[in-house]
Amino acid sequence: MAQAAANAQRHATLLDERLVRYAHLKPCTTAFIDTRTPGSAEKENFTIIGPGVSESPDQHVHVRLPHGFNIGGARQPPGCVNSQHSHETAEVFIVHSGTWAFKMGPDHEDGQVVLHPGDTISIPIHVFRGFENIGDAPGFLFAVLGGDDPGRVTWAPYVFENARKHGLVLLEDGSLVDTTRGETVPADKRPMPPTTEADVTRLGRLKAKDMDGCVLRHAALEGTRPGSLKGVRERPVIGDASPEEGLAAGHMSWSHGFHVRHLGVAPGDATHRHERHEEEVIMMHAGRLMVGLADGDVELGPGDVLTVPIGMARRFSNTTQEPAEAWIVRGGDHPRAPTVYS
Ligand SMILES: [Fe+2]
Repeated sequence: MAQAAANAQRHATLLDERLVRYAHLKPCTTAFIDTRTPGSAEKENFTIIGPGVSESPDQHVHVRLPHGFNIGGARQPPGCVNSQHSHETAEVFIVHSGTWAFKMGPDHEDGQVVLHPGDTISIPIHVFRGFENIGDAPGFLFAVLGGDDPGRVTWAPYVFENARKHGLVLLEDGSLVDTTRGETVPADKRPMPPTTEADVTRLGRLKAKDMDGCVLRHAALEGTRPGSLKGVRERPVIGDASPEEGLAAGHMSWSHGFHVRHLGVAPGDATHRHERHEEEVIMMHAGRLMVGLADGDVELGPGDVLTVPIGMARRFSNTTQEPAEAWIVRGGDHPRAPTVYS
């Protein structure tokens, strides 16, 4: 009895530290310099794993354990815009719900790519990108950023101008001053110099029409050969080939510092117990997935995120009548095969 109680306690502690239910996500609506700008004010930003690139001290970080990458999210109502910006590390979006236009260029002039649920886009570093919910219902995106510290965002010049008009000042240390709440720039701090046209010229340009290699449509996953892990259909999205797992390289195979797979589990199917050499983040897309862990089980539903520690045995099963789909993110560009127990 004492052993069972100890196991249950360990399981509860693990889930406290590593499970983020979609329903319990804590949004920040003041995360970025554009959050007072009409058209962007209703944006909800989430930092699920790692510190992300939020510019607000109000941002809640759900899981602080370093993974070598960050998982975040954005939820926006129809017509809500995330302004044009550039990143120092890889940025991948996976559409969970809604219809989204990803707009390219410092002032949107390089075209747009429209994505639907289950589509993935990887936007190379040092190009301006932004996104808008162009559907008729709220939508949610998962975002994966490279590195434990993804650095700061470089905003397009027009974003600084709009922010100033609406009372927000970005400081050199990355924090925000909201003059509409009576805040002032502290004497020992300086405003971030706005991005200049020379800065824009130094950054790269990527036109939306040239981005086929950066986008993997959900429908195209079916045409990708799944790997050898029995009981699931695991398909490459981002990362190198993994001959040990019988997997080709992902559609986006340049270095990201992490790799992404799509996991499909048919009703009634299950894997053997197995363990991984990397932290394994499971982001549920559709259906329900049962994850058996060392001290208990946990069932995941759409939008839930679980990160399973290196070396802990896990088993995936689908005990429902509907297919289960998840996105898997693991650290490093070079995937390794799991150790599988029979
Ligand atoms: Fe971003």
